Amino acid sequence: GLSSIPLSYLISFIFSKGNTGFSVIIAMSVIIGTAMSTILAIVYYSVDIPSRPIVEGFMWFFRIFPSYSAASGSINLFTLAFRNAYCDGISEEDLAYNCKEEYLEAYSALYKCCKDFCGQYCLNQTTIMQWDKIGCGRDLFFLFIDFILYTAILLLLQSSLFQRIWRQVRNEFSRLAKRSIIGPTTPSVISEDNDVISEEHRVHNMQGIRDNGEEALIIKDLSKIFKNFFAVERLSVGIHQEECFGLLGVNGAGKTTTFRMLTGDCHPSNGNAFTVLSSLMSNTKRFQSLIGYCPQFDALIDRLTGRETLTLFGRLRGLNGFALQDKVSKLIRMTDLTDHADKQSRFYSGGSKRKLSVGLALIGSPPLILLDEPTAGVDPVSRRKIWNILAQASNHSKAAGILTTHSMEESEALCSRLAIMVNGRFRCLGSIQQLKSKFGQGYTLIIKLQKEASDNTQSIDLIKSLIVNKLPGAELKDDHQGMLQYHIINPSLRLSQLFKIMEEMKAQFDLEDYLISDTSLEQIFLTFAR
Ligand SMILES: Nc1ncnc2c1ncn2[C@@H]1O[C@H](COP(=O)(O)OP(=O)(O)OP(=O)(O)O)[C@@H](O)[C@H]1O
Ligand SMILES: [Mg+2]
Repeated sequence: GLSSIPLSYLISFIFSKGNTGFSVIIAMSVIIGTAMSTILAIVYYSVDIPSRPIVEGFMWFFRIFPSYSAASGSINLFTLAFRNAYCDGISEEDLAYNCKEEYLEAYSALYKCCKDFCGQYCLNQTTIMQWDKIGCGRDLFFLFIDFILYTAILLLLQSSLFQRIWRQVRNEFSRLAKRSIIGPTTPSVISEDNDVISEEHRVHNMQGIRDNGEEALIIKDLSKIFKNFFAVERLSVGIHQEECFGLLGVNGAGKTTTFRMLTGDCHPSNGNAFTVLSSLMSNTKRFQSLIGYCPQFDALIDRLTGRETLTLFGRLRGLNGFALQDKVSKLIRMTDLTDHADKQSRFYSGGSKRKLSVGLALIGSPPLILLDEPTAGVDPVSRRKIWNILAQASNHSKAAGILTTHSMEESEALCSRLAIMVNGRFRCLGSIQQLKSKFGQGYTLIIKLQKEASDNTQSIDLIKSLIVNKLPGAELKDDHQGMLQYHIINPSLRLSQLFKIMEEMKAQFDLEDYLISDTSLEQIFLTFAR
């Protein structure tokens, strides 16, 4: 019992899937416990006497498995009970009548009860705690030792000192392995945006925890290397108090990895992050306690209802009594989960799970909120409700947050600053207005051809050449399925001129439609993402 719990806990570290670990632990208990103890007992009595110490050596060894000690002890217990009861069960008269040395064989059961001559074969009354092969003393002692041993190993493994040493050893090994196979992993050389560089300089000039009064979070040179590539590469940014910072990027850009490092889910290969009075690398527990996290993939406890889950996390954040109940009810209402609050979360729809995950990130009003695609799969009405809650979190609770999203609308609605991430690096950084005026000067022109004309390459080429002639500086950004998208940077071109040219072209080529607009955030995103 007691000794199996820490051993099972230790074995569970080997497996990433609960079901596999559970099956292996059960199989191990059955094979090592029941099967091994029976096999070794049979082998012990089958081999000749000089070989028995070898079998006994195996018996000692297998006692490091609690299931073996438990099974072997149980077998001994039953054998003892049987032996002790056997002679007691024969009446004095029967013994006196049957105990005749001349016609009893020494190995017969009755011979062992005849006290006058059984000698070394006598079935003596033995106690359970006896320290010999037929008693349970050894097994009980080893069950106790196993408990102490495995608990000690478990506490050691869980201690932060050991984890730090282990990480260093592992990093050193993977560095050496990489060097020998592929040479050192080199950071990418890409043209850097001056806003990204100046943010880096700003962060580098801060003195870590001591100098971040203005900032809710400072991320400094945070990097993560997987095998031979940088998933996240030297990210440096300071998140202001009460700010919502948007992290945009294509799939695989490194957004979730950044969050996983900040929450302690994976260890950074380099760099650090600081909040007021705590640092990710040196006060990890305190750092984590300040963060509310909505992971990209819902990590909910299936069997708990939404209300129970929120209550549980609220308690973990130190809420109780009326304050807890009040907060839980408010979050349920605000996340639009009223109809599902008392349903187990395994029966939730995808969108409802997201809403609950957002609620969990917000409960207890953490000063720093990390939201990894919080509204993916959420309907537009609920999405706006979530936006309201997030806006309220920064207004009322003065929380700062980092938000990743693939919705430009969402980032425009929530983020005061944002960065676009490509291959683990920031490619641009600033407020939406700054980015638009820096990267989105001019107009976006979208031309939609009639369905029949969209397959006619000749007329498409003609339109393209006309655009180049009439609109110098127009850059073709996209061309697919009869849609041509241009970015026009020509400061001298007036909007009225542009409309005039397009009206003429519409008549000439029988265009289905055209659209002229300011450059949107999405178009800026596409510029970097391609
Ligand atoms: N445990 C891992 N081992 C190896 N590579 C990994 C691991 N986790 C992530 N990666 C890789 O790191 C890169 C960044 O992944 P990440 O999940 O951070 O992307 P993301 O920006 O969150 O993408 P998405 O928008 O799809 O969520 C990807 O190339 C991914 O394959
Ligand atoms: Mg992700």
